[in-house]
Amino acid sequence: MRIKTVPTQPFDDQKPGTSGLRKKVKVFQQPNYLENFVQSIFNSLPVDQGSSLVLGGDGRYFNREAIQIIIKIAAANGFGHLIIGQGGLLSTPAASHLIRKNQASGGLILSASHNPGGADEDFGIKYNVSNGGPAPEKFTDEFYRQSMLISEYKIAEIDDIDLDSIGAQQIETFKITIVDPVDDYANLMNQIFDFPLINKAIESGSITLCFDAMHAITGPYAKKIIEEMLGAKPGSVINAIPLPDFGGGHPDPNLAHAKKLADLMFSAEAPTFGAASDGDGDRNMILGNHIFVTPSDSLAIMAANAHLIPAYSQGIAGVARSMPTSQAVDRVAEALDIACYETPTGWKYFGNLLDAGKITLCGEESFGTGSNHVREKDGLWAVLFWLNLLAKTGLAVGDIVQQHWQKFGRDIYSRHDYEAVDLAIVNSIFDHLREQLPGLTGKSFGDFTVKFADEFSYQDPVDGSISKNQGIRIGFEDGSRMVFRLSGTGTVGATLRIYLERFESASARQDQDAQIALAKLIDLAEQLCEIKKRTGRSAPTVIT
Ligand code: G1P
Ligand code: ZN
Repeated sequence: MRIKTVPTQPFDDQKPGTSGLRKKVKVFQQPNYLENFVQSIFNSLPVDQGSSLVLGGDGRYFNREAIQIIIKIAAANGFGHLIIGQGGLLSTPAASHLIRKNQASGGLILSASHNPGGADEDFGIKYNVSNGGPAPEKFTDEFYRQSMLISEYKIAEIDDIDLDSIGAQQIETFKITIVDPVDDYANLMNQIFDFPLINKAIESGSITLCFDAMHAITGPYAKKIIEEMLGAKPGSVINAIPLPDFGGGHPDPNLAHAKKLADLMFSAEAPTFGAASDGDGDRNMILGNHIFVTPSDSLAIMAANAHLIPAYSQGIAGVARSMPTSQAVDRVAEALDIACYETPTGWKYFGNLLDAGKITLCGEESFGTGSNHVREKDGLWAVLFWLNLLAKTGLAVGDIVQQHWQKFGRDIYSRHDYEAVDLAIVNSIFDHLREQLPGLTGKSFGDFTVKFADEFSYQDPVDGSISKNQGIRIGFEDGSRMVFRLSGTGTVGATLRIYLERFESASARQDQDAQIALAKLIDLAEQLCEIKKRTGRSAPTVIT
């Protein structure tokens, strides 16, 4: 195999964010841009003939081209074995599972998750380590450092690889195995959940369902698992064909972007269960007939009912949630007398807790839930968890939620995003918030008295590493909370996220609309951060 060494120069913007490096496709298509970043990752790792790498992506625009380039750079850098999803496709949770199952050294996942795809939209790349989870900060910091030092990359002069034929290919000592992207993952799900029970409930008609794959990666996974294995009628999975531009939409499973599904679930024709997943298959949205389950509630309900699912029937060790996620799961953990960890935003912070056996379930308000079965959040897993719960209890989604609130109270919750804000304005907002922090505790604003106000920092209980500046949180005496955070995944300007939460213990008042129930807190957040005043905007870009 002939290996070419190509001189290059650093790009100064290859610092990975919350979940890998995300940029516009056009940025990735610049000469040497992708090559530099991949070489920088490989420069940070010990690579030899024993090294193996899982490779695949969500099928978005530039996926196939990027895979061919990465194969050649991996070959030139001395990897012994690449395991690639057929067609270059792998969902994020399936990639995590393949890394673990094959004991690979790591994996490269090509995705910008829920961001739009297409020639003028987003692309992304992230490295996962040998436990199957996103590379922790000490790795991503090193990738960035290498990207600033790089002066050359190595690339093998070989033909493009056939990505579509399942099986092994060998080029001298370099082996490539093309695997079915769905099979191993589907088998794992079959081990975790009671498929015969779900199948019975679907065939008897007590569960009817619609799953929206949003023209993204979960299409083939959901077709196989939900329609073929669980017997849902053909057409239960909608938008099932992955497209490079996701059909022009945002592959983000929320009420705004999965509108067709949301409309169906709030109509007279609503099935008993509705769900959607995102671009790379790690997010989920759960709906019932005329009800949307917030991701924070979903996590709490899963924790409270995990013993009903075969894989968790012995109980769960503990739970974790990202800091801005509502405190609903904390109440369940207290009742179960298990530990509950509050981590910074991003799945990478759950990895150590899962590896150490301190937690079994974890989740984020951003439509992510998962367990110790892989080291990523897992959209279809969450969907199957709910289907198993419905089949086991015979209850409707709405009944499960109502009963949960009656028992634990409801954490009324919402997130307001202001997207593509000028960075200088966002910085001024954070400066303004920081200035107020020291004087806030004890101060009253109408019904609300501040109990604590700080900038969240986290010490990992397993390796002791410290992550600072993870968002500003203001908590009130009545348990209400607001959090201000800057997104680490956007590709245009800055995105300010405001997370709002209020606890309601009285059953009679639990059925309120979240925006109405949170109105006073929303006003107070504006009073404190002045986003509308400083940007001149009248409303958030997206409310979830
Ligand atoms: C967002 C979510 C975060 C999630 C990440 C990757 O990150 O808020 O919870 O882990 O996407 O899916 P953010 O843009 O807020 O940094
Ligand atoms: Zn995703």
